[in-house]
Amino acid sequence: MLVLGVESSCDETGLALFDTELGLLAHAIHTQVAMHAEYGGVVPELASRDHIRRVIPLTRRVLNDAGLALSDLDAIAYTQGPGLAGALLVGAGFANALALALEIPAMGVHHLEGHLLSPLLAVPRPDFPFVALLVSGGHTQLMQVEGVGRYRLLGETVDDAAGEAFDKTAQLLGLGYPGGPALAQLAEGGAPDRFKLPRPMLHSGDLDFSFSGLKTAVLTLVRKEGVAARVDIAAAFQAAAVDVLAGKSLKALRETGLRRLVVAGGVGANHALRARLDAQARQHGYAVFYPPLALCTDNGAMIAFAGAQRLAQGASADGRFTVRPRWELGGLTPA
Ligand code: KG4
Ligand code: ZN
Repeated sequence: MLVLGVESSCDETGLALFDTELGLLAHAIHTQVAMHAEYGGVVPELASRDHIRRVIPLTRRVLNDAGLALSDLDAIAYTQGPGLAGALLVGAGFANALALALEIPAMGVHHLEGHLLSPLLAVPRPDFPFVALLVSGGHTQLMQVEGVGRYRLLGETVDDAAGEAFDKTAQLLGLGYPGGPALAQLAEGGAPDRFKLPRPMLHSGDLDFSFSGLKTAVLTLVRKEGVAARVDIAAAFQAAAVDVLAGKSLKALRETGLRRLVVAGGVGANHALRARLDAQARQHGYAVFYPPLALCTDNGAMIAFAGAQRLAQGASADGRFTVRPRWELGGLTPA
């Protein structure tokens, strides 16, 4: 079965072709980062308009790259939510119109389910069950994953998401938007121990997170030390965030008795986080899995893949569509 994946929930247009026999055949992403950077954040209306411009050329590109035609498609999977309503509608409208014309099903996919299952696109791929650490710009969650559609929320952030904390801290350090990757790069050259930042909720006894206090602590530090110290401040922030994410992941593995950790979402691209989780896995004898680096941030491949899993479970598309800008992953069930 050949599935076209369409991602348009935020500021990346992602298209991909996933074949259930042959795997990922092609994927292409257009990022709007440069367009939104001028405004210091994503402007929803501009995001929607740009998705409209990109979605057809990117579809052509993945078909060309794979040497396939529209008539080869068996289904289309699109991000139904959560995300920006207007941006989601572009992908949903496109996917449903194309599916109608081709007389094939269009499957709405939960964006976070896409992230959650994306490590299954890597080699080696993890077996179920596993603990998933979902760390994106909008979410920070630990989930127990028993299978496709069988997710139990173990803990989540009570305020900012991890990616949001990276982005806001980067902004405080004058690194622009979205600053996560720039902050990570800056931190590489810094001394993480020069400044001591808090590890919020590390010992709270549960599996929840909090990042807003960390951001405030950085603000205080920047005011005191000035941006001249920003390399070391970046390193201190990253060390604190990594400590908390790694500490809570270990606790989740202990509490569930599971031996596999899967990391997904944009912050999963962070080298320091990966290095720490790898070291911790060796020390405590569990396995850790990541999506391919290019598929950590938003992309169409994870949507095509998740849609294919749902269709394989027998999920059906009814030809009507709706978008769900707010949608809890914990409420999903198997098809
Ligand atoms: O999963 P994603 O692409 O989009 C959402 O669904 O939110 O995640 C984007 C987030 C942004 O906050 C970005 O700054 C962060 O992931 N990010 C990183 C890195 N690469 C992306 N944060 C830290 N280190 C990185 N290398
Ligand atoms: Zn995402």
